[in-house]
Amino acid sequence: MTTAHAQPAIDAIREQLRQAGQEHLLTFVDQITPEQRSALLAQIASLDLRSLPGLIERYVRASSDAAKGSSAKIEPVPYFAADHTSKDRGWDREAYARKGRELIGAGKIAAFTVAGGQGSRLGYDGPKGCYPGGAVTGKPLFACLADWILAAQERYRPATGSIPWYIMTSPLNHEATVAFFKANGYFGLKSTDVMFFPQGVMPSLDLKTGRVLLSQKHEVALNPDGHGGSLKALYTSGAIDDMAKRGVEHISYTQIDNPLVRVIDPAFIGLHAASPQSSGEMSSKMVAKSDPGEKVGVLCKVNGRVGVIEYSDLPAELAQARDADGGLTYSAGSIAVHMIGVEFVRRLNAGAGGAGGGFTLPFHRAEKKVPFVDLSTGQRVEPTSNNAVKLEAFVFDALPMAARSIVLETQRLDEFAPIKNATGSDSPASCAEIQTRRAARWLGGAGCRVPYKNCGAVDAVIEISPRTAMDAGEMRAGGAGAAKVPAAIPSGAKVVI
Ligand code: UTP
Repeated sequence: MTTAHAQPAIDAIREQLRQAGQEHLLTFVDQITPEQRSALLAQIASLDLRSLPGLIERYVRASSDAAKGSSAKIEPVPYFAADHTSKDRGWDREAYARKGRELIGAGKIAAFTVAGGQGSRLGYDGPKGCYPGGAVTGKPLFACLADWILAAQERYRPATGSIPWYIMTSPLNHEATVAFFKANGYFGLKSTDVMFFPQGVMPSLDLKTGRVLLSQKHEVALNPDGHGGSLKALYTSGAIDDMAKRGVEHISYTQIDNPLVRVIDPAFIGLHAASPQSSGEMSSKMVAKSDPGEKVGVLCKVNGRVGVIEYSDLPAELAQARDADGGLTYSAGSIAVHMIGVEFVRRLNAGAGGAGGGFTLPFHRAEKKVPFVDLSTGQRVEPTSNNAVKLEAFVFDALPMAARSIVLETQRLDEFAPIKNATGSDSPASCAEIQTRRAARWLGGAGCRVPYKNCGAVDAVIEISPRTAMDAGEMRAGGAGAAKVPAAIPSGAKVVI
């Protein structure tokens, strides 16, 4: 039974739901406890019901996607080459790295990691940052990134020792994430330098009808609103104000699932903040695509502006096109690493209604399996095929909003080994293999004898902590601290350096 004093609230919400075509969300309202009812009503009240019919029409009924069907003019993107000494594409890496180190040293740079995803492909039941990332240590992905920040603090901010780290969670994994950091002593960072905030959510929609799904009789099925939700959440959470208070001017954006990511990279920071080709608003890193079919978004010029085209949206003739030297014309694979100006985030949000909060990037639709309650039986169903549409925003859709945006090429082996899938490519196994190959190359360059199998694979598993060496040059110089480079690695060994 519904209590008398709760009735008006339910009636008002029922009417709003009716107008949005979502009245079914109250199907079980008389079968749930008063606490569950309050939670359900609060959840429904937090949904943007007015925008729902339009979203359902567009993304479920018409199956359209923000990026699809565009007749945009697409051109290859200019970029700063990984080989800064190359004849045609040379640039002064050291000058930009110096500028970057100055900005880090002056406290103007924050690290920012998006960690609100659900990791459904990996099939890991917890925040992905808790998943083992170190090839030998098995240290969690959060610890891999924390070690990079510690290494950067030791090198670039030895006086104050602090680079703030903002971590975006989702309402679904926020508490678990914060608890994990507490339990692990913030991985050696100061707790006051690590800030967490949850991103927004969107209701998951039934693939056939567009109706919002119930995950329980008393609970709406929600999904995080994509990494693009970060540009709104940074603002609405107060993170941007906190950054401004700390004097932070630029944000180094990374994902949680790549333990090799250079969380703070002086040369990239310097290019973003000081190159004449950059407006200091939003910059990107790329790696050369390994083959035309590689499933990564491609950085291109779209109608004269830098943007990312998803692999599935890049016309086949462009994906296959080659330059005179045989290289792919559209080779700039996005690795989802960006520099973002604090003022850029503020401008995007403030532009959308002054007080902020109204800003969103366009949504992309993804068909997924989402457990739901069958309205006719009241039973929870675990679907075996895709039954739902999730709406997610992608952070790279903000790139064209920057006046001038630069792209930096980097070596794949040095900084890109994502963990996305349980097996095969981009898996824990492929990630450990890349970590080992990178370590072998760095150690070999520093005079260490590395064992190889006949097939050419490294006959060992090797993990290098960024606190020892952040790049091959540091390793050649002997790594941080004494006697870090061994004379040889034994065959079959598991080694942490
Ligand atoms: P992915 O696109 O790989 O998604 O996220 P995912 O959720 O981790 O994994 P799947 O697709 O369910 O298998 C890339 C990065 O963006 C973050 C993720 O945490 C990861 O760091 N992300 C993704 C968010 O922070 N929020 C989101 O809503 C989606």
